[in-house]
Amino acid sequence: MAKDSSRFVCQECGAITSKWVGKCETCGAWNSILEDKAESAPPKGITAKGGKRIDFVDLEGTPENFRRRLTGINELDRVTGGGLVQGSALLVGGDPGIGKSTLLLQAVARLAMGGASCAYISGEEAVDQVRLRAQRLGLEKAKVQLASATSVRDILASLDQNDAPDVVVIDSIQTVYLDTLDSAPGTVSQVRSAAAELIRLAKRRGFVLFLVGHVTKEGQLAGPRVLEHMVDTVLYFEGERGHPYRILRAVKNRFGATDEIGVFEMTDKGLMEVENPSALFLAERRGNVSGSCVFAGVEGTRPMLVEIQALVAPSGQGTPRRAVVGWDTGRLSMMLAVLDARCGMSLSGNDVYLNVAGGLKITEPAADLACAAALLSSATDRPVPSDLVVFGEVGLSGEVRPVGQEEARLKEAAKLGFGRALIPRRRRKTPGGLQGISPNEIGHLEDLVAIFRTSKAGAPP
Ligand code: TYD
Ligand code: MG
Repeated sequence: MAKDSSRFVCQECGAITSKWVGKCETCGAWNSILEDKAESAPPKGITAKGGKRIDFVDLEGTPENFRRRLTGINELDRVTGGGLVQGSALLVGGDPGIGKSTLLLQAVARLAMGGASCAYISGEEAVDQVRLRAQRLGLEKAKVQLASATSVRDILASLDQNDAPDVVVIDSIQTVYLDTLDSAPGTVSQVRSAAAELIRLAKRRGFVLFLVGHVTKEGQLAGPRVLEHMVDTVLYFEGERGHPYRILRAVKNRFGATDEIGVFEMTDKGLMEVENPSALFLAERRGNVSGSCVFAGVEGTRPMLVEIQALVAPSGQGTPRRAVVGWDTGRLSMMLAVLDARCGMSLSGNDVYLNVAGGLKITEPAADLACAAALLSSATDRPVPSDLVVFGEVGLSGEVRPVGQEEARLKEAAKLGFGRALIPRRRRKTPGGLQGISPNEIGHLEDLVAIFRTSKAGAPP
């Protein structure tokens, strides 16, 4: 008989060890290993005996169209790929306090007003707390079925009915538990088993299931990283503390693209959709200061202008400081190395700070040139003209490479009143200006450095 030996599970990545260790060898997290007695060892080898033959079909056939349900919140509908697919499970992750509960309460209220039957099950807040929030948001009249519950068995019993709701929110997956497991709510085995049960029911009954998951400070979904492959869609809700802007980002979507983002603003009346994020991200920009450059980016299908700010200051320490908000630290190091090695512009004795204004996180390589311009502008104390947008990828030899969707970027810039652009050399030239903007093409980062070195203050590119 198999001994009921206990095992130890990393709460970050789900790796299993036979003894307790302080650091998970798989993901490197510290103090994330917990004892887990809940699941017994899997059976040793199974045979085909008693199994049924499965039916194979051809690839060709008419697939049933996914039935989608629009929430009416455009930013959310865009990120989900055009509405919520019936029978699908969505994980909404984010830091505590970022606004997940607010977003989902607003979403189900809108859906309910549109005639869908919606259930909001909170394991974190009492019914009255949720009611209070609904009142504050002016949504108390929406026909949302509200409950406070944590037992998955109870939740399943209530939802496994012929009149099951169309949309169900579980807030949060870390607070619900299965009574068949010994481990505490929020542990990997609880989170995984509870989610599996709920998702199975959602598929069977055809309702949309939202699971809320909290993220640890390292930026991972606590425990439920193991959930990411179980659900159909993973959405992250992010934003900087102290900033009202919130970005909803799809990192996985079986029913749509994953590069779309939704932009919201947190107000005292809840989350408001931001239809024109560029205008918002540029709203606080001050003209004619050095170290600031406007990047014409694209998030998913939507062009988005953001201000990149850099500060290059003499360092008082042996090891200069480098700090980045909203961009990749490694990418900054690379840019500094390219400036040094290929353009003779060394910033190695300086502290360097880079900030993407407004709390947006940029992952596009197309931001390289704009970041370089911001750095050079600060280093030479020469402002980038306030009607100039910049985009382009920079390679390791300093060459400026073309990026996608040039037209869309320039169009957005023109819409917001920018008249000039600094862009990579184009392979195919459109005669005349692009979208009413006269683009200035650049082939190598050296050329940009030269512009800043030679031009008079206030008048580069
Ligand atoms: P919440 O949705 O509870 O966050 P989460 O579920 O991700 O933990 O959001 C809480 C924060 O949002 C809280 O700090 C207050 C703020 N908030 C507003 O600013 N305006 C509002 O209308 C609401 C409901 C919340
Ligand atoms: Mg919450």
